[in-house]
Amino acid sequence: MLLIAPSILTTDFTRLGETIEMLNRSQADWIHLDIMDGRFVPNITFGFPVIQSIRKIARKPLDVHLMIVEPEKYLEAFKDAGADLLTVHAEACTHLHRTLEAIRQLGMQAGVVLNPHSPLALIENVLNDVDLILLMSVNPGFGGQKFIPQTLQKIKKLKMMLQENNSRALIEIDGGVNLDNAGMLRAAGAQVLVVGNSVFTHPNPAKAIEILKNS
Ligand code: DX5
Ligand code: ZN
Repeated sequence: MLLIAPSILTTDFTRLGETIEMLNRSQADWIHLDIMDGRFVPNITFGFPVIQSIRKIARKPLDVHLMIVEPEKYLEAFKDAGADLLTVHAEACTHLHRTLEAIRQLGMQAGVVLNPHSPLALIENVLNDVDLILLMSVNPGFGGQKFIPQTLQKIKKLKMMLQENNSRALIEIDGGVNLDNAGMLRAAGAQVLVVGNSVFTHPNPAKAIEILKNS
């Protein structure tokens, strides 16, 4: 069954507590937090104090997606703030293998993420050093964008690569995921879906999560 990781990026932050409580009660598996620095991506979101506050009330693992340059400088700070899974962009890491090892040594699960244009070859030497591989299905920076269809082929290729290398890393997809394409993504090999807009613009977000989970 699919794991669902709702992204709170486009929710009303004056009601963040209620949003997290709703996710606690829902079938969401993880809570996806998008950290942007205005350098790696053309947008800035939130940082440590907000993650700490979420950690205090969240009863689900925090899946933290770093869209920042030099993520290696902040690994410990994200651990202390409450990250359970920490995912770094391959494009932002000069010493990707070292950074992934450092994440695991801190006791977090390690994830690596690729932008839509980045080839899978970029991560072929770290397939056994990660718990999670996140494929961006939009260009990172904003919620509510349109799913890039080439992602489907990339998922299928990645699934084969993981099998050939006996890697147990989970395949996660982020960007433009909705109630219509979730089933297709699962069939292609996706195991975790990040979903922002299509959950939070739904009249009943908990119901949308349930539908996605059973896609
Ligand atoms: C985009 C973020 C996504 C985004 C997903 O840079 O990484 O997690 O919030 O939102 P939707 O589902 O609206 O595309
Ligand atoms: Zn994300």
